Amino acid sequence: MGDRLNGKSAFVTGAGQGIGRGIAEELAAHGAAVTIAEINERTGQSTANALRQAGYKAQFARVDIRCEDEISAGVAAHVAQFGGLDIVVNNAGQNQHFDASKMSVDEWERSMSLNLRGAWLCCKHALPVMSARGAGVIINIASVHATMTTYNFFPYNVAKSGLLGLTRSIALDWGHQNIRSVAVSPGYTRTQPLIEFFEQAADPAAEEARVINLHPLKRIGQPEDIGALVAFLASDAASFITGTEIVIDGGISARYAD
Ligand SMILES: NC(=O)c1ccc[n+]([C@@H]2O[C@H](COP(=O)([O-])OP(=O)(O)OC[C@H]3O[C@@H](n4cnc5c(N)ncnc54)[C@H](O)[C@@H]3O)[C@@H](O)[C@H]2O)c1
Repeated sequence: MGDRLNGKSAFVTGAGQGIGRGIAEELAAHGAAVTIAEINERTGQSTANALRQAGYKAQFARVDIRCEDEISAGVAAHVAQFGGLDIVVNNAGQNQHFDASKMSVDEWERSMSLNLRGAWLCCKHALPVMSARGAGVIINIASVHATMTTYNFFPYNVAKSGLLGLTRSIALDWGHQNIRSVAVSPGYTRTQPLIEFFEQAADPAAEEARVINLHPLKRIGQPEDIGALVAFLASDAASFITGTEIVIDGGISARYAD
């Protein structure tokens, strides 16, 4: 497809399916060697196998981003296999909804460990490797919920807002080492959680049509849309982009509810 990432390697969390898989496929298609850092062994292995069968360099590493030891081991396995680390994509996450008056501290800690702390821990273990090579890119997959939200999205939106802060701090504190950090905020993207959301509606087809119609572009995002943006941001073509958020939502956030 292209060679803009030739000679680079990428560590993508939650890349067994959905947006993460779309990102891994696009990065590989542009020449990057990819580690599928995934908690689900079945989907992680199968994504890595599919990439290898397509002629790309890929490996699976079983990583639960809630566990620092597994992140550290996953990053070490990546460096051992590919000889460095150029790109980290913090993608693993899950939409979780709680009543702010009833959520327990344990539930809060678990939610934040998945949707915010894991991204910081991946930065923590990748930054020394990137710094030693004098370059790197960290891309945090946030959400349109990072800057605005809707009813009953607590505390997913809190964690996603935190990812914007993480993005800015990494950009500021590591920019002088040629390490960039960018947040990518998707809107509705057709992955398993969204498919299940539609299926829960009384009339799934009508609900999907309603959501599609909210978009100026009259379609829902696909994992490859997000992957194409990440492949661009990870490349030298985006070498002056850091510390900011790129929204990719088919224009839905340009419109207020009326
Ligand atoms: N789909 C959307 O509409 C949408 C919109 C905005 C943002 N996002 C964000 O995009 C990211 C990917 O979402 P998706 O829709 O592809 O979801 P998904 O559920 O299809 O994929 C998530 C992947 O992360 C993996 N994962 C879950 N917990 C993990 C852990 N502890 N350690 C490692 N891997 C883990 C899962 O096994 C799965 O492969 C998430 O951060 C989500 O918040 C999605």
